[in-house]
Amino acid sequence: MTNHVARKRLVMGNWKMNASLEANASLLNALLSSPPCAESVEVAVCVPFPYLAQVQAALFGSAIQWGAQDVSSESQGAYTGETSAQMLRDFACEWVLVGHSERRLRHAESHEAVALKAVQALNAGLTPVFCVGETDEQHEAGETEAVVLAQLQPLLDLAAASVSGVVVAYEPVWAIGTGKSATPEQAQHVHAYIRSLLKQGGAGQVRILYGGSVNGTNASQLFAMPDIDGALVGGAALNAEEFLRIAAV
Ligand code: 13P
Repeated sequence: MTNHVARKRLVMGNWKMNASLEANASLLNALLSSPPCAESVEVAVCVPFPYLAQVQAALFGSAIQWGAQDVSSESQGAYTGETSAQMLRDFACEWVLVGHSERRLRHAESHEAVALKAVQALNAGLTPVFCVGETDEQHEAGETEAVVLAQLQPLLDLAAASVSGVVVAYEPVWAIGTGKSATPEQAQHVHAYIRSLLKQGGAGQVRILYGGSVNGTNASQLFAMPDIDGALVGGAALNAEEFLRIAAV
């Protein structure tokens, strides 16, 4: 059995496309009014690009870090509408999500493109949060491990030093935004599988987050599992009290 000892818990909010200057201001204020304990947990929020400056100004010097929800697989040039990893560094981002299922599915991001995004992030000094997870159909067909392996393979093909620099997030698509979280046992089973793949690549200490309907009530049971190192939180991250409850587990 692995254990949590060497891996600090990470609780990350993904605001998705839910934000406005006004709503962010009150959410950030509320988050800062009872900040998480930085010694026991790392906390971060991944926000839409236009609000990075606002979030940077609000969170600078606090225990809460910030990042973005996507990054270009190219470093710079004629890529209209894209945002480079270096641009994210200009706003002191530490984190960036890559390969979220909402991008893989809606924007046809290939496994290879997601790995290239991770490389761009690593090269710029950001930590990519490499998202994987199966659809409901794939889950029902018993294809979870095969799907996760295919999604991770281009990452596992990189040098061990690169793989060690990422965080992996397992987010079963059927659990996202449905209120139907995977059970702790279901999630642990997949996390242990992902851990075994990472170990083979010499990166067994990479943190693996669970995402999909995490809230202040189910987080503690999920976090009790040996290979669940934290959470990637969608809906509940828009409510400061709920998000901080998850961070305080
Ligand atoms: P929910 O927490 O709303 O299910 O979203 C999970 C997610 O997709 C985080 O990236």
